[in-house]
Amino acid sequence: MRKIILIGYMGVGKTTIAQLLAEKINWDWVDLDKLIETKAQLSIKEIFEQHGEIYFRKLEHELFKATVENDKTLIISTGGGTPCYANNHLLLNGEQVVSIYLKASIETIFERLKNEKSERPLVANHSEEELKEFIAKNLFDRSYFYIQATHKVEIDGKNPTEIVTDILALLN
Ligand code: S3P
Repeated sequence: MRKIILIGYMGVGKTTIAQLLAEKINWDWVDLDKLIETKAQLSIKEIFEQHGEIYFRKLEHELFKATVENDKTLIISTGGGTPCYANNHLLLNGEQVVSIYLKASIETIFERLKNEKSERPLVANHSEEELKEFIAKNLFDRSYFYIQATHKVEIDGKNPTEIVTDILALLN
């Protein structure tokens, strides 16, 4: 196994979990959003504002593919939309690849996102009432792609350490 890919909706903690998992198993870790920001020399918010979502998705696809297909041993935390565009989901179960869907309920996602919307262009302009409706619909649309992951871990009510313990149990 050379790649562990963490996927799931915005706010489920992909980045935090990737970092913690990397410490536990002593692997390197990369965050796809950070790679995109470095490549574009702009924040995710600025990329959406200045170039639009299609440009972002193109960059996301190119960097995701290149990262999954390189020879390094790596944990990759993705953006919430990564598996849902440009056939990226086809990279979730390749040879040497294990992917994990961090699955949260609408309620959990809502509680986490309502206080940290501003840096996330897809939800930044929604009021709290609209946000819940948006999450419900968007999660429904995206679930088809998320369930393509090799494994699923339910995260509701769990802290990061417990989630990493669940992931390690699946990897062994
Ligand atoms: C997105 C999620 C974000 C980021 C971008 C688009 C999405 O990542 O990639 O704002 O489409 O769900 P996080 O899941 O880390 O917030």
